[in-house]
Amino acid sequence: MAIVALVSASGSPGVTTTALGLALLWPRPVMLVEADPTGGSGLLAGYFRGTREYDSGLIELALTASNLSDALADVARPIEGTHVSFVAGTRSHTQASALRDLWAPLAETLGDLEATGQDVVVDAGRLGLNGSPEPLLDTADLALLVSRTTLPALSALRSWADALRRPSLDWHQSGVVLVAEGQPYGAREVASVVNLPVLASLPDDPDSAAVFSRGAPPPKRFETGPLARALHAAIATIHSTITHRRTELLEGARS
Ligand SMILES: Nc1ncnc2c1ncn2[C@@H]1O[C@H](COP(=O)(O)OP(=O)(O)O)[C@@H](O)[C@H]1O
Ligand SMILES: [Mg+2]
Repeated sequence: MAIVALVSASGSPGVTTTALGLALLWPRPVMLVEADPTGGSGLLAGYFRGTREYDSGLIELALTASNLSDALADVARPIEGTHVSFVAGTRSHTQASALRDLWAPLAETLGDLEATGQDVVVDAGRLGLNGSPEPLLDTADLALLVSRTTLPALSALRSWADALRRPSLDWHQSGVVLVAEGQPYGAREVASVVNLPVLASLPDDPDSAAVFSRGAPPPKRFETGPLARALHAAIATIHSTITHRRTELLEGARS
C-alpha cells in the first residue's frame, strides 16, 4: 500500500493508540515509525510497559554516516509474534531538533520500502510542535488527522485542516479519523465543519485502547471487539482511498 501518517491537531486524542492498532492489524508487513517530536517512546513505555529497553531509534538514524536504508534496517526492531517492526522515537523532546535534517531523506527511504512489500505507518504526534516531521506528512500517501469530537477538539481540527490540505502535492491526500465518534458529535457533523473527509470512526473502547496505549491485558473478545472491528474497517478504507487515488493519477498521466 504505502505510507500513512497520523497526526493530531490538539490534545491527546489517541494518535499513538490508533497508529499501533492499525499496524498490528495491518494485512502486510509494516514499519511503525515513532516520529512524535514530544519524545519518550509511547511504544516502549506504553505498549511494552517499560519491559523493553531503548537501544536505537531515530536519533541513531539521524547520526548515521552509512546508507540510510541500511541504517533503517539496523534500527528497526520487530514486535515479536507480529509482522510489525518499529523505529523508536526520541527519548526526550530536546532531541527533536537533531532530527530536522533527517525527515526529508527518511521520507524518501520509507517510500522505497513499498517495493520490498512493506508499508509504513507514521505516528507524527501533534501538529505545530517544534521538530514536527512535516516532510513525512507531505510525502505520505495519506495523512490522517486524528481527533475526538468535542467542540474544543473540532475547533482545533478546523484550524489545522487547512494546513494539511496541500493542493501543491497532487498525489497526497488527507482525511480525518474520529476517536470516540458520537461523543458528542457524529462523523457527518464533523465533515460539515471540517473541509476534509472523515475516513474512519473509532468507537470509545477504553479497555481495548489500553492494550495498545499502556500494555493492559486484553479484555474479553478483544480481537472481535468494537475497536478491533473499527480498525479493520479503517484499514480497508485506507487501502481503497490510496488505491483509488493512484489509479486516478495513473489515468491522468496517460491522458
Ligand atoms: N478508541 C479509543 N477509545 C477509548 N480510549 C482511547 C481510544 N484511543 C485512545 N484512547 C485512549 O486515549 C488516551 C490517549 O491515547 P494516545 O494514543 O496516547 O494519544 P496521543 O498519541 O494522541 O497522545 C489513552 O489513555 C488511550 O488509551
Ligand atoms: Mg502519542
